[in-house]
Amino acid sequence: MAKKEEKTMDKIVSLCKRRGFIYPTSEIYGGLANSYDYGPMGAELLRNIRNLWWREFVNKRQDMVGIDSQIMLHPKTWLASGHVGSFNDPMVEDKKTHKRYRADHLIEEFIEGKEEFKDLVVEDLDIKEMTDFIKKYELKSPDGNEITQPKAFNLLFETAIGSVSGEKAKVYLRGETAQGIFTNFKQVLDSNRVKLPFGVGQIGKSFRNEITTGQFVFRTLEFEQAEIEYFFNPDETDWKKLFKSWQDSMWKFITEILGVKEKNLRWRRHTDKERSHYSKDTYDLDYNYPFGWKELWGIAYRTDYDLKQHVEYSKENLTYTDPKTNKKFVPHVIEPAVGVNRMFLMTLVDGFFEDKENDRIVLKLDKKLAPYKLAVFPLLKNKPELVEKAKEVYDELKESYVCDFDSNGNVGKRYRRQDEIGTPYCVTIDFDSLEDGKVTVRDRDTMEQKRVEIGKLEAYFLEEFEK
Ligand code: GAP
Repeated sequence: MAKKEEKTMDKIVSLCKRRGFIYPTSEIYGGLANSYDYGPMGAELLRNIRNLWWREFVNKRQDMVGIDSQIMLHPKTWLASGHVGSFNDPMVEDKKTHKRYRADHLIEEFIEGKEEFKDLVVEDLDIKEMTDFIKKYELKSPDGNEITQPKAFNLLFETAIGSVSGEKAKVYLRGETAQGIFTNFKQVLDSNRVKLPFGVGQIGKSFRNEITTGQFVFRTLEFEQAEIEYFFNPDETDWKKLFKSWQDSMWKFITEILGVKEKNLRWRRHTDKERSHYSKDTYDLDYNYPFGWKELWGIAYRTDYDLKQHVEYSKENLTYTDPKTNKKFVPHVIEPAVGVNRMFLMTLVDGFFEDKENDRIVLKLDKKLAPYKLAVFPLLKNKPELVEKAKEVYDELKESYVCDFDSNGNVGKRYRRQDEIGTPYCVTIDFDSLEDGKVTVRDRDTMEQKRVEIGKLEAYFLEEFEK
């Protein structure tokens, strides 16, 4: 990682802790590796991202419904999906420290910037090829020690139900939310008036025993996914067109709804070797994080693979009957799958702005994403008449907007704090307000200040937030 890039990430991590976006989990006990909690600002931002996704892809579409399935599903689910057998990452171990690493990540770091490897696609290498590469180029661990041969490491977290341990009670924490959609396919079909093509969306926690984590909340053991399985009849719907229309929707969501800069986004198509065996086509929507271009959102044409696997393992009939022809068949799916925490990190990186001219850090989040939409201040905290008026204004505005009330320190310091958490507007009540019934509204991005009548604040913000 380049020095400049490291610095940006360090600054974001420090802002997150300082301002209550993200804390290391259970820090009072020394923390838990690669696990994080979301503080008051982080919880609001996460909720905003989730809600916008749900609204865009579930509520605003007639062809979509949403579900909320269990984290622990019947263990056969994961046999059918192939996760028990082949949800693996290539792992190596430092022979001295016994720290574990992803073999593909060590190879990626080794080849970075080296001309002779410019055409090597690490994702294409299988375990044998990685073993040969490590041997040939004598790759070492980051601590400079010898490493073991790569071996497949299963990412599913196992746990047990009840006090009885053993095979019978073994269950898994879900490795993806997608399988809960497939196992509910028949129920959704039978209990809703859905007709192909239609999709089912779900947001929820997933768990993976990742070998290499790090990079803050980009790759963690516990994370949140927002996934869609869009079912269709391949004889009636052109999958390529459908795939493209989902790609367009994904792009629009990130750029227009979350307000992320287009220059920081790109599509990357999976190579034939890299693509999962059941997928006919897969693309990643990558974001340019400070540590490089990385997958934000994946889209795959999974065919009828998953439903057919569940038919085989459950012996249930998971077919759809065409209402016109009465023909029964197993629908195909296109799956757009995104990590909520990766979107969260992306919005922080994209909005992070060091305004050197004005000696401030600003989180230029889209207004829809900002944890607080408004902050209300009395100019001085020891003047009861100002505090009282400010409280009145705050009580009124909090009915329509998530608002902060701050009377600590001087107004300049309060502005800096609100800039760092991305609050679009600050409202200050001063002595003139008591006379003329007007307040000062200050814009986060332009720092411009305007006097607005208290009675017209609601209408003023309605317009500003529409922009
Ligand atoms: N159902 C398909 C599926 O799970 P995936 O590419 O493994 O596909 C989908 O995961 C998305 O979930 C990724 O694009 C990424 O945004 C997010 N994700 C996956 N593993 C993650 C991890 N360990 N930490 C944070 N987010 C993760």
